[in-house]
Amino acid sequence: MTFLAIKVPKNKAESVRKRAEQIGAKDKERLITVEGNYVVIPILEEFAEEFSEFEIIEQENPLFARKRRLGDILKGRIPQELYRHIPRAYKILGDVILVKLSDEISAHAKEIGEALLELHPNCKSVWRDMGKSGALRKPKLEFLAGDVNAKETIKLENGCFFKFDVTKVMFASGNQHEKMRVAKLIREGEVVVDMFAGIGYFSIPIAKHSKAEKIYAIEINPDSYFYLLENMKLNAIDNIIPILGDSKYVTPERVADRVIMGHINCHEFIDVAINALRDKGIIHYHEAVPLAVKNRPIERLKNAAKKLDREIKILDYKKVKNYSPGVVHVVVDAYVV
Ligand SMILES: C[S@@+](CC[C@H](N)C(=O)[O-])C[C@H]1O[C@@H](n2cnc3c(N)ncnc32)[C@H](O)[C@@H]1O
Repeated sequence: MTFLAIKVPKNKAESVRKRAEQIGAKDKERLITVEGNYVVIPILEEFAEEFSEFEIIEQENPLFARKRRLGDILKGRIPQELYRHIPRAYKILGDVILVKLSDEISAHAKEIGEALLELHPNCKSVWRDMGKSGALRKPKLEFLAGDVNAKETIKLENGCFFKFDVTKVMFASGNQHEKMRVAKLIREGEVVVDMFAGIGYFSIPIAKHSKAEKIYAIEINPDSYFYLLENMKLNAIDNIIPILGDSKYVTPERVADRVIMGHINCHEFIDVAINALRDKGIIHYHEAVPLAVKNRPIERLKNAAKKLDREIKILDYKKVKNYSPGVVHVVVDAYVV
């Protein structure tokens, strides 16, 4: 789609605007803008010849009169009966877009990708998001539009930069507040262990926004570990100790005041987390839990503590976000003595 406009000197702008409106040439979806001594009047493509005495330009980033939606762009480009399957939500991670598509509309995936780039001209690529696979939560993506090499992006969240390759590493949304909540709980001089660090989802904001003495950040996936190191540099952080490996085996013992278990399926690691604490401390334990067994995370924590002859006091139990129908991602703050 090309966005044409007439570029007229200011002294002629009013009469040209009136003429464009009278003959129905003005594109009502775009706004008139000023560029130095010129006024840019958006027009519909089929009227360009009517204004051949003026300079006709192609607008790369037009200003729209109202926020356009994906559906507005796709009208006329896909069959009408599929309009209701147009995705209502998608993720923008830096300059990369990830979109989930239903099977009904998947034959038009390319058109949707192109429309998303039109809607977000600063973005470089669009990928179909087909979920995550395995314990490492590797993304399953299919390229849709833009530059196929534009896979690495930088997302700004909570005042921190996160660089990563969208085809190799996930970026969970919806737990932005949880990351800041934990960062704010940390007192000066604390030692923290982040057992499932990823690219630094928790460790980077903790390092940036708290006065923790040091943070051990453990990550098993070499791709995520690579970006953890990159993000430490990018955010000028020097108190994270990165460890590549399986936290089951490489978590340091009796060092921490606080342990973050930021993986939704990590109940088999609770004993490791308890052993990472000094004589007492706090564990932030995450779990995806079906509503029917809401108490399961607390029971799992208590059972693991009992086996190690330790006691647990539950400080908080919070929903982080909805995970799937009937299942919620929760976090339990547990004080272990
Ligand atoms: C779901 S992601 C973390 C998500 C992040 N906490 C958030 O909420 O945005 C979990 C991370 O744990 C890592 N991981 C999984 N099993 C692990 C293990 N046994 N040891 C260390 N890291 C592990 C994965 O590679 C992934 O980077």
